[in-house]
Amino acid sequence: MSVIDLRRLTGVARQQALRIVLIGPPGAGKGTQAATLKERYGLAHVSTGDMLREEVRRQSPLGSQARALMAAGKLVPDALILDMMAQRLQQPDVSRGFLLDGFPRSRAQGEALVAMLAAQKQPLHTVVQLDLQDEEIVRRLSLRRSCPACGRVYHLHSNPPTLHGLCDADGSALVHREDDNEVTIRTRLSVFHEQTEPVIEFFRSIGLLRRVDASLPIDHVEHLVERLIQGALTKSSPLRTSRRLAVSKYRSLGRSLRG
Ligand code: AP5
Repeated sequence: MSVIDLRRLTGVARQQALRIVLIGPPGAGKGTQAATLKERYGLAHVSTGDMLREEVRRQSPLGSQARALMAAGKLVPDALILDMMAQRLQQPDVSRGFLLDGFPRSRAQGEALVAMLAAQKQPLHTVVQLDLQDEEIVRRLSLRRSCPACGRVYHLHSNPPTLHGLCDADGSALVHREDDNEVTIRTRLSVFHEQTEPVIEFFRSIGLLRRVDASLPIDHVEHLVERLIQGALTKSSPLRTSRRLAVSKYRSLGRSLRG
């Protein structure tokens, strides 16, 4: 694909309200890639982890239920997440397209999402799986630091801030997330293998899944992800057929969820 084709498709994507899921284990780089993609394509970045951390910070009823589970590296129950997402996906910014990061995380969440979007005749364009080995994840998360104000993420070795301990974007003091300690990271990894891998298989089975090697440098991963997105927009893309199949299969389920 030429540079001109890529530029043209980026323009098409901005008009098309792209709907993308970034899926992968903790620390695979979902938030890092989402930050670039949301700017480039004008998408809403919907991160369930960020939403839940905000609920915890506000000490809301949802935050109180989620807090201990998150600190232990376990999933918040599907019913709470689906409630939160049903509301979030009705916000006006989402109509310009969205990038889901950290959702869905269980087969039940995945099926509910596909059903809901099918009922709205707004199916997903693609699901990008960022694939990474467990030991690299432990290395990445142990040295991750994030900005509590803007959410930007850094890595003390591979992606450090310009000024030690301070966010490049807004100067806030960077924090080490409570769940980024080795014991909790390993629990999060087990949870990923047991509960999230089945939803990855589900997306594979309906033809939406595309895999990227997330062990590559950040800009290389960015390039591969972007090519997949552009591929999902071209006429010859096999995703068009599988999307149609997914829509027809889950539209009726979506209607029943809407009651
Ligand atoms: P959440 O906040 O979603 O955490 P996560 O999935 O564990 O993902 P992370 O944010 O840790 O990693 P990431 O993939 O975004 O990686 P990042 O870009 O930061 O969820 C937290 C908790 O909330 C869950 O445990 C659960 O309790 C709850 N929760 C959330 N959603 C839920 C749901 N749907 N259902 C139920 N419960 C839910 O990168 C990591 C590090 O690597 C950074 O330091 C970065 O600089 C570096 N890095 C990134 N890419 C590269 C690269 N290519 N090369 C080298 N370094 C890189």
